[in-house]
Amino acid sequence: GKGAAMVTAVAYRLAEQSRQIAEILSEFRLTTEQLLEVKKRMRTEIQNGLSKSTQDTATVKMLPTFVRSTPDGTEHGDFLALDLGGTNFRVLMVKIRSGKRRTVEMHNKIYAIPLEVMQGTGEELFDHIVHCISDFLDYMGMKNARLPLGFTFSFPCRQTSLDAGILVTWTKGFKATDCEGEDVVGLLREAIKRREEFDLDVVAVVNDTVGTMMTCAYEEPTCEIGLIAGTGSNACYMEEMRNIEMIEGDQGRMCVNMEWGAFGDNGCLDDIRTEYDRAVDDFSLNPGKQRYEKMCSGMYLGEIVRNILIDMTKKGFLFRGQISETLKTRGIFETKFLSQIESDRLALLQVRSILQHLGLDSTCDDSIIVKEVCGAVSHRAAQLCGAGMAAVVDKIRENRGLDHLDITVGVDGTLYKLHPHFSGIMHQTVAELAPQCNVKFLLSEDGSGKGAALITAVGCRLRQELNN
Ligand code: GLC
Repeated sequence: GKGAAMVTAVAYRLAEQSRQIAEILSEFRLTTEQLLEVKKRMRTEIQNGLSKSTQDTATVKMLPTFVRSTPDGTEHGDFLALDLGGTNFRVLMVKIRSGKRRTVEMHNKIYAIPLEVMQGTGEELFDHIVHCISDFLDYMGMKNARLPLGFTFSFPCRQTSLDAGILVTWTKGFKATDCEGEDVVGLLREAIKRREEFDLDVVAVVNDTVGTMMTCAYEEPTCEIGLIAGTGSNACYMEEMRNIEMIEGDQGRMCVNMEWGAFGDNGCLDDIRTEYDRAVDDFSLNPGKQRYEKMCSGMYLGEIVRNILIDMTKKGFLFRGQISETLKTRGIFETKFLSQIESDRLALLQVRSILQHLGLDSTCDDSIIVKEVCGAVSHRAAQLCGAGMAAVVDKIRENRGLDHLDITVGVDGTLYKLHPHFSGIMHQTVAELAPQCNVKFLLSEDGSGKGAALITAVGCRLRQELNN
């Protein structure tokens, strides 16, 4: 009768709905062939970044870091470190002791950088940084020592030495004026002078990937790669000097900060980018830039999810078709929420309470769909990151003319550490796409702080050797 027809109609509508949801999410499922293609393209871009003739226009910039070796255990001294560009801004005091019982002791304080400072003038930003250093030195009671400082500055910098780095472009959430094209060590030194309160010896500017690699290499000498899967996404590794055409000399190796977040900025990933990726990019602080990073890193995954949810709501699949103000708010899905939503230990009711907490009223069906969306987006992120890493390890293997390479990657970042599935999927992808490499991943214990101090220690030693 009529009732049965209606039931059939509802069942049909639901089936059609789940078919359409599956269709939207299928765009995020990359096949092994597609991932191998991503690996291959990353390899091409690596080559473009290293070669003199293509480096100007290369998207993956392969920036030399002037770090020529991993630590050898003789590093020692007291250092100050700054960590700018991750989830938190921190000032740290790092005491490294060498000898039989190597120890690293750290003290640190987290400081907020208000949005208006992140996106204000460069002078305001650097004055704020120095203000925080001043507070920290008071706290430690160390205003009078002229301490050597390592500056972990997690943005692309063109370095000409260990202690000079010209900011190529801001990435992630930063947009302070008058910094791009400037030497950030100079900007820091000037701000210290302006304050006329204490003196510091800025010895090194360090990318967070490099700090991470160095920290892990301190414990594990086979660590020659650094990876950050956090707010941003990036990697560094020890490249042969003979392959770094922008730097004189053919002997030994130098660490290269890949700045792989910009992979795809020439359009080479357009075939796998979805309309949601394009929406996230269009409304970001840096449209058209850091396209791979925008598919792989914590700052953007939540935004991709949000854009999918908006689309599904518009189509009537979610939230009773009502787009709330909350859902229109940029940045609501932070990494920690995605990580919670995807945790297998969490019952759906708890997923609903997380959504509630974010201001989203959901039904049980809604929560199932939201969890699926989060899963599809983070799964792709982990696979893409793994494909990039597969290109790097195979490059190193070929550099050394080996059929088989054993290597360790030092890793840090909130996405890697907090997300329940990201690391596993990423590891598995690397194993699958680079079968000739045996890749171990080592979690870095505070790479940005410890690593900067280790590099600063090496910098101080080299300077002494030059003076003697
Ligand atoms: C962005 C920065 C890069 C940094 C990464 C991780 O990609 O450009 O320098 O290493 O984020 O923090």
